[in-house]
Amino acid sequence: QQRVFSGMQPTGNLHLGNYLGALVNWVRMQNTHECIYCVVDMHAITMWQDPAALKGAIREVTAAYLAAGLDPNKSIVFNQSKVPEHAELGWVVNCVARLGWLNRMTQFKEKAGKDRENASVGLYDYPCLMAADILVYRATHVPVGEDQKQHLELTRDVAQKFNNDFKPQIEAAGFLDGFFPLTEPVIQGPATRVMSLRDGTKKMSKSDASDYARINLTDDADAIAQKVRKAKTDPEPLPSEPKGLDGRPEAENLVGIYAALADQPVAAVLAEFGGGQFSAFKTALADLAVTKLSPLNGEMRRLLGDPGYVDAVLKDGAERARVIASETMNHVKDIVGLLR
Ligand code: TYM
Repeated sequence: QQRVFSGMQPTGNLHLGNYLGALVNWVRMQNTHECIYCVVDMHAITMWQDPAALKGAIREVTAAYLAAGLDPNKSIVFNQSKVPEHAELGWVVNCVARLGWLNRMTQFKEKAGKDRENASVGLYDYPCLMAADILVYRATHVPVGEDQKQHLELTRDVAQKFNNDFKPQIEAAGFLDGFFPLTEPVIQGPATRVMSLRDGTKKMSKSDASDYARINLTDDADAIAQKVRKAKTDPEPLPSEPKGLDGRPEAENLVGIYAALADQPVAAVLAEFGGGQFSAFKTALADLAVTKLSPLNGEMRRLLGDPGYVDAVLKDGAERARVIASETMNHVKDIVGLLR
């Protein structure tokens, strides 16, 4: 059986990278898989969050999920802290994962910065909670952007080590192919790594100091158009073929964004715009972005005007998620030797 799990942190605004790198694929996979989509609020607090803002951000990310097309009747949509089994399995994962594995995580190094002694233990342990998120549903597929690849490798390592460390107990419990599946990353489409609009070598990110670096899902049409117009480019016209984008990170990024929004291959976009001036392409890109994002933006606003509905979706989702998570946790306790 195939099962999908993925999540986003409710820290700051969701942006075009989150949308094209992950959310678009999440929506698509609803038609072919059993899907579980989470707002990972416990991951958010690995860095300090203003409590009132955090509550708002959890509802806002949920609204973005729904506005983008996640259907709570098809998929399970909930926030992580409502299902205590994530933290419970997280502890078992802590005891399976090795210090050496965590020491290799590049995201920790980036986020902790120079003052590593002052980073929270939670930030260091972040990948173990993420592994627990996935494993507590024994998910087989995880759609994410490129930046999450290393975390998913760690998740596979945890699954494999658990399956080995407790092989006799797992087989005795009737799981002949191991208990946890080795999860496959799903990193798909022309925008698995959307870059900053100000610097084509930097990832588009919620934490970039410049708001011009990203397009937020809450931006209105004017803001979107202005950000695209001001996006960094080089002086050359667009090439007619994808290999002409080599060494031109800003051009490559904008063409990739267009391709993803239009649901076209990069080659088709260049066949249309190659040889032309950047300004004409930017106008088309701004129009396309506004056309695609405006309905999402409007629906998000409508949903946020009805927090009762959003909260009800999260409550119902958490109840359904818990049924699966608690069953896994019971097996894990039996396998590991914890009395329940
Ligand atoms: P987060 O909240 O940073 O990002 C959410 C999703 O958006 C993708 N993404 C991007 N894709 C393309 N280009 C970009 N510039 C870009 N920026 C972000 C991310 O790859 C991600 O898919 N650790 C995760 C949250 C998490 C999770 C999980 C994910 C917690 N538990 C279990 C999957 C499964 C994170 O911080 O994502």
